[in-house]
Amino acid sequence: NEGKLWGGRFAGGPSPELEALSRSTHFDWRLAPYDLAGSRAHARALHRAGLLSDSELVELLRGLDVLGERFEAGTLLPDPSDEDVHGALERLLLEEVGADTGGRIRAGRSRNDQIATLFKMFLRDHARVVAGQVLDLVEVLATQARDHLGPDGPSVMPGRTHLQHAQPVLLAHHLLAHAWALLRDVDRIADWDARVAGDSPYGSGALAGSSLGLDPIGVADELGFSGSSANSIDGTSSRDFVAELAFVTAQVGVDVSRLAEEVILWSTREFDFVALHDSWSTGSSIMPQKKNPDIAELARGKAGRLIGNLTGLMATLKALPLAYNRDLQEDKEPVFDSIDTLEVLLPAFTGMVATLTFNTPRLAELAPQGFSLATDIAEWLVRAGTPFRIAHEVAGACVRRCEELGIELHELTDEQFAEISPTLTPGVREVLTVEGSVSSRNGRGGTAPVRVREQLDELLTRAAAQ
Ligand code: ARG
Repeated sequence: NEGKLWGGRFAGGPSPELEALSRSTHFDWRLAPYDLAGSRAHARALHRAGLLSDSELVELLRGLDVLGERFEAGTLLPDPSDEDVHGALERLLLEEVGADTGGRIRAGRSRNDQIATLFKMFLRDHARVVAGQVLDLVEVLATQARDHLGPDGPSVMPGRTHLQHAQPVLLAHHLLAHAWALLRDVDRIADWDARVAGDSPYGSGALAGSSLGLDPIGVADELGFSGSSANSIDGTSSRDFVAELAFVTAQVGVDVSRLAEEVILWSTREFDFVALHDSWSTGSSIMPQKKNPDIAELARGKAGRLIGNLTGLMATLKALPLAYNRDLQEDKEPVFDSIDTLEVLLPAFTGMVATLTFNTPRLAELAPQGFSLATDIAEWLVRAGTPFRIAHEVAGACVRRCEELGIELHELTDEQFAEISPTLTPGVREVLTVEGSVSSRNGRGGTAPVRVREQLDELLTRAAAQ
């Protein structure tokens, strides 16, 4: 049992089959810098408790620094006989500082409180990166929105419900709808981080805490936490912080996939709403004319993977009795994968969105089609005193007449309007333009240009506060 973390009560070493099953260094090695940081803080706590002499502390810190430098240089590697990152680093520390001094570091800690703490530290760092990347996407959407509120008047487009033409909206309004959803994801990460920050498990030991007079709050402080676990059983065995972040990453994937799906549709010949930049689209190996929205398709596909990671993780956590169970070793790969996936996906997706060129003349041409101004007729009648139920009927009759004649609403003559209802005086024409329609929707949150400019400012203010 040379080099193992246990041995005293075992007559023989583990079978190779068990070692192969047990090993996690191929995925937890990335936690090594966090493990070393935890060991530094723990060594200081042991020293403060009188369990390490001054010179032992200095020697342990030196050894940990050497390991940190070797990790940075890429020369610190686990051995196949190492079970996990914690065991490997303890073995390497003993090699560096000798067994007498190195053998003191494990006092009062367990891999259970270590892993729970390091995992939080790692996820907090990466959640910050992802939040920054989501904010970049929010900013790019805001820039596209601003560009289409531009000096030549705001760009309009057909707003849809059920994918059918519904009412005209500003292109900026539509783009900002995606930005607001993504900004909430950034908010979620901030909420999550504040919760995780208050709960450093170091000092919880295997499950019951420590008898050695250690200082969990001091350790927490040194590791960037604002507090330590109030309950050592909870501290070592809860993983809702993993599931919660896996949910947020899945939600980011879902939010991005909705825009991705639109980009895929919009870039078809039939829609022809957007053109993709050459550097952010791909060709075909056989069809020379092709230009494919691969980034958007990969975004759509990866959303499935992110949801799968969350689902798998929840299944692992379900019904686990307290406290630590080895099942919890299965919690890392899914969320590592979710983080890695977003860290690669988001910069590509943001680049694609930043370089989209909108076919604004076509969007403007389609905006009033499909009788999308029918609601404007009904609301014009309501403003003139007609009950909405009747106004709805009258506007519907206008649509039916237009369908019979194969024309659009604004092409009805004054006589045809009057035949449908005497309440439809020529004044109704003022709302039968896209511009009139969008400008009239001027309540908070509406698509009127003045309101959309306000919401853009509001969004940018909130994004800047993140
Ligand atoms: N590698 C384990 C994990 O990822 C931590 C070690 C705890 N192992 C143990 N036998 N108590 O959860």
